[in-house]
Amino acid sequence: MEQELRTLEREASEGLEQISTANELEEFRIHYLGRKGQFSGIMEQLKAVPKEDKPRLGQLANTVKKQIEKAFSVKKEQIAAGATTSAAIGSIDLTLPGRRPEQGRLHPVTQIMTEVCSIFESMGFSVAEGPDVEQDRYNFEALNIPAHHPARDMHDTFYVSDSILLRTHTSPMQARIMEQQEPPLRVIAPGKVYRCDSDITHTPMFHQVEGFLVDTNVSFADLKGVLSVFTQKIFDADLPLRFRPSFFPFTEPSAEVDIACVICNGKGCRVCKKTGWLEILGAGMIDPEVFKQVGYDPEKYSGFAFGLGIERIAMLKYGIDDIRLYYENDLRFLSQF
Ligand code: PHE
Repeated sequence: MEQELRTLEREASEGLEQISTANELEEFRIHYLGRKGQFSGIMEQLKAVPKEDKPRLGQLANTVKKQIEKAFSVKKEQIAAGATTSAAIGSIDLTLPGRRPEQGRLHPVTQIMTEVCSIFESMGFSVAEGPDVEQDRYNFEALNIPAHHPARDMHDTFYVSDSILLRTHTSPMQARIMEQQEPPLRVIAPGKVYRCDSDITHTPMFHQVEGFLVDTNVSFADLKGVLSVFTQKIFDADLPLRFRPSFFPFTEPSAEVDIACVICNGKGCRVCKKTGWLEILGAGMIDPEVFKQVGYDPEKYSGFAFGLGIERIAMLKYGIDDIRLYYENDLRFLSQF
C-alpha cells in the first residue's frame, strides 16, 4: 500500500506538469481528488489494513493528498493568470488608428488681441500693461474727468474703496506712461476693463487696446493714417473710414470712428442697422488738460489717442452676433477659432 501511495504521488505530479488548460485540470481533479477518484479508493483500502499499520499509512496518505492538492491549486492559479493575460492580448486591436491627443488653442479674444498688438508694433508702438485695479486719479482725474463730471455716469464700476476701482477703460495708461516718460511716445496698452453693463453687446468685463502717440507737430491726419493702416490690416480689406464728431473729456477734438460695414460692404444690412457703417473705436487729439496733469508743455507737444474694444473687432471679423458667447466656455463655439 505504501508503494501504491508513492506511485500515485509520482503519477499525479507528472500528470499535473503536462496540464495547460482549465479542462484538463478539471479532468485531473476528478481522476485523483474526486469523490470516486484514486484517493477515495485508497481511503477505502485503508479500512482493511492491519490495525498496527493504520496510523502510519493513514498519515502518509494524508501527506500525499495534501501535496497533490497544493500542486493542484498552484496550477489552477497559473492557468487563471494565463487566461487573463491572453484575454487582454486578444482585446488589443493593433490595427486600430491611434488616438490623437486633444490640442488646445488660444481664445478668440486672445488671438485678436495678439493680432491687434502686432499690427501696432509693426508701426513702431511699444506695448505697456497696467493694473486692472486702478486709482480714481488715473481712471478719471488725470483724464480730465473730475468727481462730479457727467462722463462718470457711463463709467459705473466696482469700487474697492472710495479711490480704488476696477478700471473702466485702458485710458489710465496714458497718464501712467506720460507721467514717467518724456515724448516722443508711441504706446499701446491692451487689457481687461470693467463696467456695470450686461446685454447681447456688453459684458461686465471686456478687453480694450489703448493707443497713443505724443510728439511735436502731431496732427489729426497722423491719427487717420495710423487707424487706416490698422483697419486695413485687421480686416484684410481696404475699408473706408468715417470720423464722427464726439466727446471724450481727455481728447479735443474727439471722434467715434466707423468702418464701412464688413458684412454688406457699406450697402446697409441688419448688422449695421441699414447705415452701412460700423462703429469700432473712440479717438481724438489728446486734450491739453491731460498734458498739464502729467507735466508736459501743451504748447510744445501734441498727440492723439484711441481706444478700441477687442470683443467688438472679433465679432465683426468673425460675424459673431452675441458677445456673451465668448465667456460661456462652450467648446462648440471656442473650437471654431
Ligand atoms: N477710453 C474711451 C472709452 O473707453 C475710448 C477712447 C480712448 C477715446 C482714447 C478717445 C481716446 O470709451
